[in-house]
Amino acid sequence: MAIENQALLQVRREIQRQRPYKVGVPSGQITVKLNQNESPFDLPDELKEAVFENWKEIAFHRYPLEQPDKLAKLTAAQIGWDSDGIIIGNGSNELTYTLGLTFISPNAKVVLPRPMFSFYERVVDIFGGTAVSIAPRENLQFNTEGILQAVQQSAPAVVVITSPNNPTGLALPLAEIKKIAGAAPGLVLIDEAYIEFADEPSMLTVLRDYPHVILLRTFSKAFGLAGIRMGYLVGDPALMREVIKVRPPFMIDRFSIAAVNAVLSKSRLIRDRVDRIRSETKRLIQALQQIKGGHVLAGQANFVTFRVPGNSKEMFVKLAECGILVRDMSGYPELAGFLRVSTGTPEENSAFLRALMQLLSITV
Ligand SMILES: Cc1ncc(COP(=O)(O)O)c(C=O)c1O
Repeated sequence: MAIENQALLQVRREIQRQRPYKVGVPSGQITVKLNQNESPFDLPDELKEAVFENWKEIAFHRYPLEQPDKLAKLTAAQIGWDSDGIIIGNGSNELTYTLGLTFISPNAKVVLPRPMFSFYERVVDIFGGTAVSIAPRENLQFNTEGILQAVQQSAPAVVVITSPNNPTGLALPLAEIKKIAGAAPGLVLIDEAYIEFADEPSMLTVLRDYPHVILLRTFSKAFGLAGIRMGYLVGDPALMREVIKVRPPFMIDRFSIAAVNAVLSKSRLIRDRVDRIRSETKRLIQALQQIKGGHVLAGQANFVTFRVPGNSKEMFVKLAECGILVRDMSGYPELAGFLRVSTGTPEENSAFLRALMQLLSITV
C-alpha cells in the first residue's frame, strides 16, 4: 500500500489549482514548426563555432558573478539606458516571477487586459494576487478606456500591458500606453517581447518620464536565442535596486553569456533578419486576408493570428497531418475559431499557405 504523502497537504492552494504549462503538440511528423513565435533562423555556424571556441577558456568549476554585470553593460549600451537600470534573467518568463515576488502581495490587484499571454494570469495566481481582467474592444485591441477605469476603481499594485501583444500581435499606440502609465498608481509592466518587429515605437523612448514603468524584453524572438533562455528588465535604477534583491545569485551561466555576447556583436545580421521576418509577416497577412469568411489580425509581431472558416481545432489537426504545426488559439475565449502562425522562412510560410489553402479548397 502506498504511503500517504503528508507534504501534499502543505502545497499552497494557489499551486494546487494550477496545471503545468504545456504547449499542445499533436503526434506525427512535423516538418514546418510555426507554433511558438520563435525565430526561424538559427545562429550561423561560424558564430556558434566562435562561442564554442571561447568556451574552452571558461572555468566550469567557478561560479559566475552574482549578476552578469558585463552583459548588463553591453545590453544597456545597445539600447541606450543606464546599466544599473538593467536586470538580466533566464528568459523573460523567469523575470516575470521576479516581478511577482517583488510586487504582488497576497490579494494585490493586478490589471490584465485581455486577451493576454496566459502566463501572466498564472503568475498573478501563484503569488496570491487578484487579477482584474479587462475585456478587449471589438477589434480585439486592448481597451484603454476600460483599463483606465479599472485603474481608477481598484488602484492596482500592477498593470500589465503586452505590446505588441501575444496572442493577437496588435500593438497599443504609445500615446495610449502613456495615458495608462500616467494614471496608474503602482508598477506598470510593459512586456515588449516583440518590440523589435513593431512599427509602433517602444516605451523606452519616454521611459525616463515614467520611473514606475518597467520594460520586459527577451533575446528569444528577434535575436533568435529561445534555446539559450535570456531576457532583461529595463527601468529606473532606484526601482531595479529593489527588484535585484529577490534575484538568486549566480543565475546566469557563463555559456549563455557567451552566446548573447556573440549575437549582440552582430547587430547588422539581427537587423537583416528582423527585416526579413517583418516582410514575410506582411506577406502572410496579405495572403490570409484572401480567405473568405476568415478574419486576420494585422499585428506587428513575428506571427499572425487569424480566424478560419469552420473549426480551428480541426484545422490545427489537419495542418499537423500535413506536417505543419501552428497554434490553436481557441483556449482564449475571445479567440474562438482563431489559429496563430509564427512567421517562418519564406519556404516555410509558402508551405503553410499552400497546405492551408488546399485544406480550404482555395486555389492559389
Ligand atoms: C508576450 C510574451 N512575453 C514573454 C514571452 C516569453 O519569452 P522568454 O522566451 O523570454 O521567456 C513570450 C513567449 O512567447 C511572449 O509571447
